[in-house]
Amino acid sequence: MHFIQPIPTIRRDGDGVVILDQTCLPQRTETRCLATLAEVATAIRDMQVRGAPLIGATAAYGVAIALTRDAGDDALEHALHTLAATRPTAVNLHWALGRMGARLLPLAPGARAEAAWLEAEAIRLEDQETCAAIGTHGLALIESVAARRPGPARVMTHCNAGWVATCGAGTALAPVYAAHARGIAVRVLVSETRPRNQGLLTAWELREAGVPHALIADNAAGLLLARGEVDLVITGADRVAANGDTANKVGTCLKALAARDAGVPFYIAAPFSTLDFACPDGGAIPIEDRAADELLCVAGLDANGQPATLRQAPADTQVLNPAFDVTPARLIDGIITERGIAAAGALRELFPAEEGAR
Ligand code: MRU
Repeated sequence: MHFIQPIPTIRRDGDGVVILDQTCLPQRTETRCLATLAEVATAIRDMQVRGAPLIGATAAYGVAIALTRDAGDDALEHALHTLAATRPTAVNLHWALGRMGARLLPLAPGARAEAAWLEAEAIRLEDQETCAAIGTHGLALIESVAARRPGPARVMTHCNAGWVATCGAGTALAPVYAAHARGIAVRVLVSETRPRNQGLLTAWELREAGVPHALIADNAAGLLLARGEVDLVITGADRVAANGDTANKVGTCLKALAARDAGVPFYIAAPFSTLDFACPDGGAIPIEDRAADELLCVAGLDANGQPATLRQAPADTQVLNPAFDVTPARLIDGIITERGIAAAGALRELFPAEEGAR
């Protein structure tokens, strides 16, 4: 499937990059120039860019931006260290930085900046191919659902794992876009994904693409699954451990539990860059805790259409805000990768260790 992003999520612009600022979506589409290492680190930490594959690519460009100013050993180490500290859970970030370090550290400083831009660009382009391949493999799942019953294939997803979260078509949404492009009727149930409401990004993407969908409250998922109104659940991932346990946006695990109880297949869509073979199981995946205000405030537009934040509880309210959860491999029917669909825990069959996987 050839998918062109309506707005590039990230692109090189001279010695910097232009990103689609996701903190403005879906109300406004605004781009932002990032010209320094600090700006890139802030963009990742504050979720101006978000989604596992995209933050990996952004970090790679961040290294190139830093080395354009100073390509010495200390500057390279500082860039890798600074970017690695931005967000802990999505392993794509660390994969991309590992790849940049391995490519650049052996080079003389004078050769590093150019090589860094080329490597970042390669990561971006490879992600496009990867998303397309995930779309092709996942399409088979939607086709088999569509063949079994009349009406649209009803796919539930969580968070945003569409084009906005990657450099290409997305991961979990790539099969949906592939089905839609082939004229296969599909309807997506989109959970809002409190507290950051990434489901609104998914609904916006689907609306722009003309894909039928319905936004649902997170807590409606159990009812819809139990009532037989969902054929298939597909979500993205931020890190898949060697045994197939998978970290994704908080709330994913509850959907997997409800899906299993209802007999609805639950799939994860994830590229190689999201697989962490060095991590034995879900208990070893670092889970990001984010700021209390993500729960205590809501963001939107005021009566004049201007961005506004509304406080809905006292600022000193005690809060726990884990941003991800871990779905155990036993609840996952398969992992859709760019090389095909594997049983969770059998990913080595698609990505053998001898190929140099982490
Ligand atoms: O905190 P976020 O918005 O970066 O979390 C994103 C997710 O959890 C996505 O589902 C995941 O990164 C897959 S993106 C293709």
